[in-house]
Amino acid sequence: MAVNQVYLRLYDYNMSFAMENMKIFLSNPTEDKILLKPAFKLFGLMPKLDLNATEIHNFSRVLIETEFEIPDWFNSHYKSHDLNKS
Ligand code: HEM
Repeated sequence: MAVNQVYLRLYDYNMSFAMENMKIFLSNPTEDKILLKPAFKLFGLMPKLDLNATEIHNFSRVLIETEFEIPDWFNSHYKSHDLNKS
């Protein structure tokens, strides 16, 4: 849910642009491309996954296009990250 929200927000709800950038990240996750800074600070850089181009495309599509049902706890948890400082 956080990946979905942050990508859509930072890429101005432009789904194809968000997807293209997520595909670039998934092809080679590096620190300079990170958008989820609080998650990165807590858990570090995610591992590079052994995915082919179709899998990268499909994962990006799911993460961008899914309309997640946001549970109540998520928003209060999310606010606790104090995102302005990240
Ligand atoms: C198919 C599997 C996975 C997909 C599609 C996926 C996708 C993503 C995407 C798109 C982001 C956002 C990157 C950003 O900050 O701009 C992200 C972040 C993250 N992922 Fe994954 N991920 C996967 C598996 C994993 C695994 C296996 C781990 C841990 C072992 C992991 C840990 C993290 C963490 C800690 C972050 C936040 C920090 C960062 O951006 O690296 N992910 N993931």
